[in-house]
Amino acid sequence: MRKLTYFVACSIDGFIGDPAGDATSMMSYLSEEFLEFLKSEYPETISAQGREVLGVGDAGNQRFDTVIQGRASYQLALDAGVTSPYGHMRELVASRSLGGSPDPQVEIISEDLVGRIRKLKAEDDGQGIWLCGGSQLAGALIDEVDELVIKTYPQVYGSGMPMFGAEFSVIDFTLESVRTFGNGVLVRTYSRTR
Ligand SMILES: NC(=O)c1ccc[n+]([C@@H]2O[C@H](COP(=O)([O-])OP(=O)(O)OC[C@H]3O[C@@H](n4cnc5c(N)ncnc54)[C@H](OP(=O)(O)O)[C@@H]3O)[C@@H](O)[C@H]2O)c1
Repeated sequence: MRKLTYFVACSIDGFIGDPAGDATSMMSYLSEEFLEFLKSEYPETISAQGREVLGVGDAGNQRFDTVIQGRASYQLALDAGVTSPYGHMRELVASRSLGGSPDPQVEIISEDLVGRIRKLKAEDDGQGIWLCGGSQLAGALIDEVDELVIKTYPQVYGSGMPMFGAEFSVIDFTLESVRTFGNGVLVRTYSRTR
C-alpha cells in the first residue's frame, strides 16, 4: 500500500497562494538552510528545471516516485513550454479538458480520479505518491489523503486559495513531526488518524 501525501507550501493562515494561486511571496523564504533540506530530503518535489539550477539534477527520489497535479497547476508548466515538469517521477495530471496527453511521460486522468488513485495506492511496491495540488485537486482527493507535509511560511494572506477546495468537514490528523528553520519556516508532518 502506498501513501498519498499532500506536500504543499502555505501561509500561516492556510492559503497555498493568493486568490489566483500565486505564491511568489513565499519564495523569499527559500534560504540556504531550507533549500538544503529540500534538496536532501525532498529533491523530487523540485521541478526538473529547478533541479538543474540547484545542481541536483541527478538526485534520487527520496519519498515519492509518482506525482499528481491538477490541470491548472500543470498549465503553469505548459505555459512555460514544459510538458513534463517532473520527468524524474511517474507524472499524472487530472483533467477533463486536455484530451490527449501533451507528453508521452504524462498520464491524463479524465474520469474516475478517486478510482485511479486507489489503484496507485494499492500497488505493492514503490515509493509514495505526491499530491502536488492545487486546491481543487486536493479537495477532490481529500478523502484519499494519508499524510500531510505542510511547509508553512511565516506570512499571513488574509484570503487566498485554500489548501483544500472542499466542502466543510472535520478530518483528524496526528502530528508526527515538526521541523523548524532559522527564518521561521515550519515543516509539519501529519498522518491521517484512521
Ligand atoms: N503552494 C503550493 O504548494 C501549490 C502547489 C500546487 C499548486 N499551487 C497553485 O495552485 C493553483 C492551481 O490550483 P487550482 O485549485 O486552481 O487548480 P488545480 O487543482 O491545480 O487544477 C484544477 C483542474 O484539475 C482538474 N480536475 C479537478 N478535479 C478533477 C476530477 N475529479 N477529475 C478530472 N479532472 C479534475 C480540472 O481540469 P480541467 O479544467 O482540465 O478539467 C480542474 O480545472 C496554481 O496557481 C498553483 O500555483 C500551489
